[in-house]
Amino acid sequence: MTTEPSSVTLYSPAKINLFLRILGRRADGYHDLASLFQTVDLCDRLTFSICEEGDDVLTCTDPSVPTDGSNLILKAIDLFRAKTRSDKRFRVHLEKNIPNQAGLGGGSGNAATALVAANWLCGRDEDERRSMDELREWSGEIGSDITFFLSNGVAYCTGRGELIRPLEPLPNPPSTVYIVKPNQGLSTALVYRSLDLSALHPSSPSSLLSLFQSGGVMAAADQGALVNDLEPPAFANYGELRELKGDLEGVFGAGRVMMSGSGTAVFGLDDRDGEGDREAALREIKERRREMGLRIFACHFLDRGGPSQE
Ligand code: C5P
Repeated sequence: MTTEPSSVTLYSPAKINLFLRILGRRADGYHDLASLFQTVDLCDRLTFSICEEGDDVLTCTDPSVPTDGSNLILKAIDLFRAKTRSDKRFRVHLEKNIPNQAGLGGGSGNAATALVAANWLCGRDEDERRSMDELREWSGEIGSDITFFLSNGVAYCTGRGELIRPLEPLPNPPSTVYIVKPNQGLSTALVYRSLDLSALHPSSPSSLLSLFQSGGVMAAADQGALVNDLEPPAFANYGELRELKGDLEGVFGAGRVMMSGSGTAVFGLDDRDGEGDREAALREIKERRREMGLRIFACHFLDRGGPSQE
């Protein structure tokens, strides 16, 4: 038996998609996809505490992040209350490090973190807390990518993204993942709306997956397995992003660069250790493409998927 904790601080990681194939449009307007999701150690930091009176309160270090009921954190807390018939209210502070409208799953990861935190703060002992399986089952109701963030660090995701097959860590990961994010974002709905279903990549998702699992990440990339069907519609809406990808291929090598999710973050996989020339080349691109307002994050694959405690 433990005493009821009054506050908890959790780190909420970002994800990249190592491939993302769209399989078709569904009757409910969503698209069926098959994608390899991988968490990276670019994390938001969230502190949750129980509010003794009043409504939920969300504050955020980034003024561009909405803190009203449209934020997935508050939607996740509402969902948790409805499912558990709890009347607890929460104060949440979000230190935002993961850029939004990036395709990095920041908002989805935050929602998964909110489910875990609410469960933690409402259960006086472990028996009283809901199982991770229940949290996973509920999570699909608030967004497509949230379930992944209650799973392993790497997973094969299908359906609209919410059907998860957790995988063992992939062999031969990159030494560093460089994520490059322009100031401009793209809405996921707009990118899906611009998708030309007659021009999808021909490769089968299972053959892409086996390239990653057998040869490892860098070899798969070199065999053309970094495939994202959402790149053409994203580039159609934001032409400079295609040029940025070309610049990054000049740094990391063709095949080792891809847009994540529905963008606008683009990442490059690097397998060299401790060489400053990559960062110098990225600084040169950032300077040359000043008008794009590029931010650069150096990060690494994680073995865990969900939130972790300080
Ligand atoms: O699920 P989420 O809220 O992240 O999706 C945002 C929008 O992206 C949806 O409203 C839908 O238009 C589109 N989408 C889709 N197929 C998916 C995921 C998202 O069409 N698998």
